[in-house]
Amino acid sequence: MKTVGGLAPPPRDGDHPAGHKVFDALGCGSCHRPQTAKGVPAFTDLCLHHMGPQFDTRAKDIEAQGDEFRSAPLWGLRFRKAYFHDDRASELGQAIEMHGGEAERAAGKYRALSV
Ligand code: HEC
Repeated sequence: MKTVGGLAPPPRDGDHPAGHKVFDALGCGSCHRPQTAKGVPAFTDLCLHHMGPQFDTRAKDIEAQGDEFRSAPLWGLRFRKAYFHDDRASELGQAIEMHGGEAERAAGKYRALSV
């Protein structure tokens, strides 16, 4: 099990205003909120979200249904080799495109980008 408890956030590699603009325009920040209430730059709202049938483990616990996962903090992404709770994506763009459920709208906007 992965945990970030007790670890300091990895240092940022700079600020990228153009990237922030796209992130906001696509609606990523509705779940990956840039800052926590205490001002920590974690890029998560720490909340559960339905991610669609392709994420459904059919497992339920007291809090979460099968396709519900907590918004992953988007810090240190440049060090990651795989994405999501089960490492199902090996490329960043692939991970963004795989979002479904409540994130389908944002993922659709990402897929429609023309760059
Ligand atoms: C409705 C909420 C929601 C929206 C909107 C959303 N995400 Fe996510 N995102 C999640 C959840 C929940 C996870 C974790 C899923 C898991 O672990 O299986 C996640 C995981 C990720 C990951 C993988 C991180 C890791 O450490 O494995 C990346 C990258 C990511 N999101 C980027 C984006 C981007 C870019 C956008 C906008 C295009 C976006 N997300 C929009 C909820 C959302």
